[in-house]
Amino acid sequence: MINPFSPFFPAEGDIFASRSREQALFREGLEQGLSPQGPGPWNVALVGPWGIGKTSLLRRFVRIVREFESPVLPVALTVTPSVAAKLASEMLKRVKDEIDAVQATPRWPQRLVEELGKWEPTIGWGPVQATRRPRPTDPDPDLYRELRRLWQGYLNGRVPGLVFFLDDANALLSKDPEALMSLRGVFQDLQGDGARYPLVITGPEGMLTTARDASEPVTRFFERIPVRPFTLSDATDAIRDPMRAVGLPMEVTDAAAIEDIWEKTGGHGFFIAFAMRDIVREAMIRHVAEIDRDFVENLWPSIAEHLAKERFESDWAAASPAEQKILRTIADDPDGPLSRKIGKSGYALLGRMTVKGLVMRTKRGDYSLYHPLFQAFVREQEVPGDAEA
Ligand SMILES: Nc1ncnc2c1ncn2[C@@H]1O[C@H](COP(=O)(O)OP(=O)(O)OP(=O)(O)O)[C@@H](O)[C@H]1O
Ligand SMILES: [Mg+2]
Repeated sequence: MINPFSPFFPAEGDIFASRSREQALFREGLEQGLSPQGPGPWNVALVGPWGIGKTSLLRRFVRIVREFESPVLPVALTVTPSVAAKLASEMLKRVKDEIDAVQATPRWPQRLVEELGKWEPTIGWGPVQATRRPRPTDPDPDLYRELRRLWQGYLNGRVPGLVFFLDDANALLSKDPEALMSLRGVFQDLQGDGARYPLVITGPEGMLTTARDASEPVTRFFERIPVRPFTLSDATDAIRDPMRAVGLPMEVTDAAAIEDIWEKTGGHGFFIAFAMRDIVREAMIRHVAEIDRDFVENLWPSIAEHLAKERFESDWAAASPAEQKILRTIADDPDGPLSRKIGKSGYALLGRMTVKGLVMRTKRGDYSLYHPLFQAFVREQEVPGDAEA
């Protein structure tokens, strides 16, 4: 028997549940953006907190591109610090790999495969030619030049376009706060030259607005698609579909059980998968065929304890004593206005705590802990006495 729930890997294939609105939006935008009569490429930023399902959705988008009726190639990479250090050559190499992997099919006729295969990226040339004056913060002048050469010499008139996917694009910013600006510059210029290279990135909500004055054009270049917690109906799919996909001899039959899990997890992808993994594991051990609300309720204390061990204890440890005090203040009184209780020095810490993912800005401009389950955990922690920042 296979337990299909894994909170530590992005959901793929049959395990991926719904998000049908976002998928439809992407399909439509892709079609419009790649049509020769269309307005030009459509650039997307999938934004949301950690673990909400950004990578899973990005991979689904990659699949949509692969299955597109006309030949379009997805070029996907995850931005890690080492990728960020040589983004241009990493992207060009990935394009080459994708092209080399294309097999002749009805969509990809043999001649087309052969023509494209002739392109070789030139990585790390000497001085830049004056096709376009590079800005000092450009990812690498080669990126613009090489992608333009690819478009003009090989793709144009043969394929509708290439779609670039950069997962965790926020990792570009740790070295260079202007990196997204530069990337946008390159793609905007390429798109201005007629190249159909839509760009899809993922990252936390604040990613597009951290680079001070530079932020405004970046925000305009990308259409933001927020990745939100699952609705009850999406959560129902996320709970039931994976179990059916692997043919488990058990089911969550009870709608009240699903609602209970949805409420407790706040519909958050990681927490649902985490809870479900424990629930299925327990049901297997006890040979339970019908998982109902009582089963969930009875197991919940042990799930909460397990979550604390796996996740919340390290979140707590990542906070300084002064930050722990603030977390506790918010947890004890989530609705009260914060400013008076934590003072100026406390308020100054909230920015860093947001980047660490411990707190989130609420609509009213206050702060809340990143998840209700974390809030419950924080309430039970011992807070340092007279801690200094
Ligand atoms: N559409 C989905 N269907 C089923 N499960 C999902 C879906 N999206 C996310 N999940 C679950 O949530 C977990 C986290 O998803 P994912 O890794 O995609 O999030 P993320 O936003 O990319 O996280 P991070 O911020 O850590 O990069 C996955 O392991 C998976 O179990
Ligand atoms: Mg991710």
